[in-house]
Amino acid sequence: THCILIGAPVDEGQRRPGCLMGPAAYRTAGLAGTLAALGHGVEDRGDVRPAPGRGESCANPAVHHLPEMIAWTEALRAAAEAALPDGMPIFMGGDHALALGTVAGVAAHAARIGRPQFVIWLDAHSDFHTLETTSSGNIHGTPMAYASGLPGFDPFPPFPAPIPGEQICMFGIRSVDPAEHAAMQPTEITVNDMRVLDEQGIVAPLRAFLDRVSAADGLLHVSLDVDFLDPSIAPAVGTTVPGGTTFREAHLVMELLHESGLVSSLDLVELNPFLDERGRTAKLMVDLVGSLMGRKVFDRPTRSY
Ligand code: ARG
Ligand code: MN
Ligand code: MN
Ligand code: MN
Repeated sequence: THCILIGAPVDEGQRRPGCLMGPAAYRTAGLAGTLAALGHGVEDRGDVRPAPGRGESCANPAVHHLPEMIAWTEALRAAAEAALPDGMPIFMGGDHALALGTVAGVAAHAARIGRPQFVIWLDAHSDFHTLETTSSGNIHGTPMAYASGLPGFDPFPPFPAPIPGEQICMFGIRSVDPAEHAAMQPTEITVNDMRVLDEQGIVAPLRAFLDRVSAADGLLHVSLDVDFLDPSIAPAVGTTVPGGTTFREAHLVMELLHESGLVSSLDLVELNPFLDERGRTAKLMVDLVGSLMGRKVFDRPTRSY
């Protein structure tokens, strides 16, 4: 695979400064070398630089950094669309608000080549607020609603090719606000919350989704939020939620995603290096990308998709 690293130092989607250091932390933790050691081509396109904000506003007074986030969304969408014909973009965040742009870019690309775009959202949170429903005002809590084509994003560019709920899987979630819950009710989004994973394990729910992607000849965007992981192994995140995935569960997710051969793009989000302990969270995230990109202890026959 030709891997295209794209820095997305977005810090404006939430209120705890530090995610802007994420791209530097991934580079320091050896992301490019890890990929190269697995035999992949690696190209680092540097960090995306958004245009200045244009002063857009919305009715909800809680929302902050709206013009900056609109500029990021436009710039990251363009970066994603430019990268996809050349290889697999890996967006090094930055907070999760970067996904307004990256998912817009991959959805536009998929529509252009006539294939369905699927998304797996590996996160403690559903991130299904609109600009109207968010009470925190943090835009990192909104990208899945934007990608679903919900109203309530007026100052943003219209989402290019809204992703049907049937093509979205949330995995590992355990913190959903009432307004998000209500907005998700009428959708066909697959919600594998922690209750489902505790009862059924990782493998069955994940394979069920991957089988659907495969049957549809879909592209698969993976959006990996640091808080998908349990805070005890991944402390460098502003929105810790107890009861996250373990080291072994998270690696298993990555291995199954690799074996599917379906992954076409990746977000690494919410890493706040200022909150890390001697780089352990950054190193764990790089380790997980290694598993996603094919590192394994032993080669053994696996189920073919
Ligand atoms: N639902 C909460 C909010 O809207 C938390 C969102 C957390 N999102 C994230 N990408 N970490 O503020
Ligand atoms: Mn600011
Ligand atoms: Mn998130
Ligand atoms: Mn989260």
